[in-house]
Amino acid sequence: MKTRITELFGIEHPIIQGGMHYVGFAELAAAVSNAGGLGIITGLTQPSPERLADEIRRCRAMTDKPFGVNLTFLPALMQPDYPGYIRAILDGGVKIVETAGNNPQRWLPALRDAGIKVIHKCTSVRHALKAQSIGCDAASVDGFECGGHPGEDDIPNFILLPRAADELTIPFVASGGMADGRSLVAALALGADGMNMGTRFIATREAPVHDNVKRAIVAATELDTRLVMRPLRNTERVLKNAAVERVLEKERTLGPKLTFADIIGEVAGVYPRIMLEGDLDAGAWSCGMVVGLIHDIPTVKDLIDRIMAEAHALIDERLARFTSAGRAG
Ligand SMILES: Cc1cc2nc3c(=O)[nH]c(=O)nc-3n(C[C@H](O)[C@H](O)[C@H](O)COP(=O)(O)O)c2cc1C
Repeated sequence: MKTRITELFGIEHPIIQGGMHYVGFAELAAAVSNAGGLGIITGLTQPSPERLADEIRRCRAMTDKPFGVNLTFLPALMQPDYPGYIRAILDGGVKIVETAGNNPQRWLPALRDAGIKVIHKCTSVRHALKAQSIGCDAASVDGFECGGHPGEDDIPNFILLPRAADELTIPFVASGGMADGRSLVAALALGADGMNMGTRFIATREAPVHDNVKRAIVAATELDTRLVMRPLRNTERVLKNAAVERVLEKERTLGPKLTFADIIGEVAGVYPRIMLEGDLDAGAWSCGMVVGLIHDIPTVKDLIDRIMAEAHALIDERLARFTSAGRAG
């Protein structure tokens, strides 16, 4: 399947694995790239630029296919060493960067001068248009369904994607709620050039996270996510658990008086315990509504092959039956 995204990134299938804190290590990124998609290492999961450089080297040893690095610009009390991380990306010869969070404009010249393609992840048409206007090569359009930070507009992908298609000239992928061949075909029909998946890729054999996390994803339904930190305008979609219930209770009782300090124990620095040790109630962790469509833990290659086979069958058989040309064939 050729789309503007497969052409732009030199990949076989229009499927991207979005950056995920404490999930996007070299093992997962390499598995996705080896299976013909675009794997992405999560830059800030590495505690220093030197460690990111090591992770890039590890990934390169596991795949000779293109892979990317995610750089997330989120409100942080202590700003990470972004120039250092960018130097590690440039020196590591990475050719694709997924930016997310704030506007990446400040960092674009260095990336573009090195011939790096930048895909900016955003949750609104206006931010996607901004990304286009400052020179990003592509956008990843994240609907309200998505795991992680869906923004504050609450526009689901059935509206967001055709709106993006109407406005953007750069290629974009649909992100949030994507799980299978149906998602891919729907994303293409709504005007996207491929899809980005987060939660679905966690429940794969190669995802280097604790089995408890994978089992929780398989067990959960589409009713099991919650939005936290809305009063702080830093909304995050997470899987419900004991820590999330505590956060929501504090949000209810403190109302507009809530500050980040009130919930820091539940939302900051919790990922290693959850993802690596499998202590699922240690804090709030991102998870999309798509969790309701995830019922197994396949290898990344089996997952991607299945998605592509299902997508081709949908287009060539099911959809073709609805047209006179298809019926004649
Ligand atoms: C556990 C987890 C951690 C994530 N961490 C990040 C991150 O550090 N940076 C980022 O840009 N997006 C992050 N995301 C968002 C994903 O890259 C992707 O946009 C999102 O998961 C898509 O929605 P889906 O989960 O419905 O597929 C995270 C998502 C999950 C589920």
